[in-house]
Amino acid sequence: MYDAPKLNLSKSIAEFEYGKTCTPGGVLGIRRPYNFVEGEYPIYFEHGKGGRITDIDGNEYLDYLCAYGPIIIGHREEEIDNAAIAQIRDKGFCFSLTQSIQNKLAAKLKSLIKCAEMAVFVKTGSDATTLATRVARGYTGKTKIMRCGYHGWHDWCVEVKGGVPAKLYEDTHEFHYNHLEELEDLMKKHGDNTAAIIVTPIGHPLAEQVEYPKPGFLEGVRALADKYGALLIFDEIRTGFRVHIGGAQTLLGVTPDLATFGKALANGYPIGACVGKTQFMKKLEKEVFISSTFFPNSVEFAAALKTLEILERDKILDVIKKKGEWFNAELAKVLGRHKVATEASPVPQMPFITFKKNEAKTYKEMRKDFYTQLIRRKVFLQPYHHGYVCYRHTDEDLKYTIKSIDEALSFVDEKKY
Ligand SMILES: Cc1ncc(COP(=O)(O)O)c(C=O)c1O
Repeated sequence: MYDAPKLNLSKSIAEFEYGKTCTPGGVLGIRRPYNFVEGEYPIYFEHGKGGRITDIDGNEYLDYLCAYGPIIIGHREEEIDNAAIAQIRDKGFCFSLTQSIQNKLAAKLKSLIKCAEMAVFVKTGSDATTLATRVARGYTGKTKIMRCGYHGWHDWCVEVKGGVPAKLYEDTHEFHYNHLEELEDLMKKHGDNTAAIIVTPIGHPLAEQVEYPKPGFLEGVRALADKYGALLIFDEIRTGFRVHIGGAQTLLGVTPDLATFGKALANGYPIGACVGKTQFMKKLEKEVFISSTFFPNSVEFAAALKTLEILERDKILDVIKKKGEWFNAELAKVLGRHKVATEASPVPQMPFITFKKNEAKTYKEMRKDFYTQLIRRKVFLQPYHHGYVCYRHTDEDLKYTIKSIDEALSFVDEKKY
């Protein structure tokens, strides 16, 4: 049983102690050490390039978390950074009025995404999902929101309820992905007062396997929205510009009324978008208001346009899909060779290895040991969140990762739990 040596993380740990004196919890929520394997994963990164990242102790990792999704091509992509720098240097990006590059980006999204007859740009995914629900409430005059998936940190949907009065989320009801019967029940009760159903078109609940829709699931959700006069919103913050250039809605053949995008749209620059059919989006002309000092800032628009240009020009999403398919096929062989009960994500762009739950709950210890062995081999995958394949992951990187997974599973196989 080969136990890979522990990494030197002394600078990360010391910086974290200092960080706790100036930021509550040292770093925010999902990036805290307890969300990885405490004491084994780094806490601060220094820099990244392509598919690799380096922590402040100088350890270099293969990055399969990709900043939780924005890195679609790779870190520090010169062409994209140069487009952003040119915007900063030659034009400026923060003005009292809007720069016309916004229209270029809106037109580009219209050309790529089925439901996108109009687009509005914001800065984060949470902005975009909140905006979409407001448009739906404004359009329908109804109150309830049916939701499925993580949609961000705003009051109506945040999962940790501290600091949020119940009245701000009591009109939001949750159902589980691929459980159409739960949505049917909710709609029987609340359908007449439902403004929107918001759902991630591919299921990716925390610490659970990634799921494609069962036959008829998304079609069923679409039909329920239509039956009760609610808008259907696809939250494509993770799937957008990753599983298909036209979003999961194109891949899966179900068209929503509104859709939200973010993450991969600008390869790391902060941008969110709410797109949708004109009749709904037009509510933003008068009755429904959104504004922010920074929403029209244009560095992100320049970065997004360049990202989309490269995605199309170099057929990046086809390449990522192929890489992911190769990875998943090799992974299936490796997982099948080991005793320990594991599952793998069926979505090639979003790899994830989970441990089947058992009564004795030893799967938790196995998961911890497995991810410990992986990070010690410099493979940065998140124990509780699916990963991502990016364009800059080389075939050698993927092969090394498969070999590391094999070794890490051997460690778990041989240990007594
Ligand atoms: C599906 C989905 N929707 C919305 C959000 C919120 O986006 P942001 O973190 O940019 O506010 C996320 C973020 O992880 C997400 O995965």
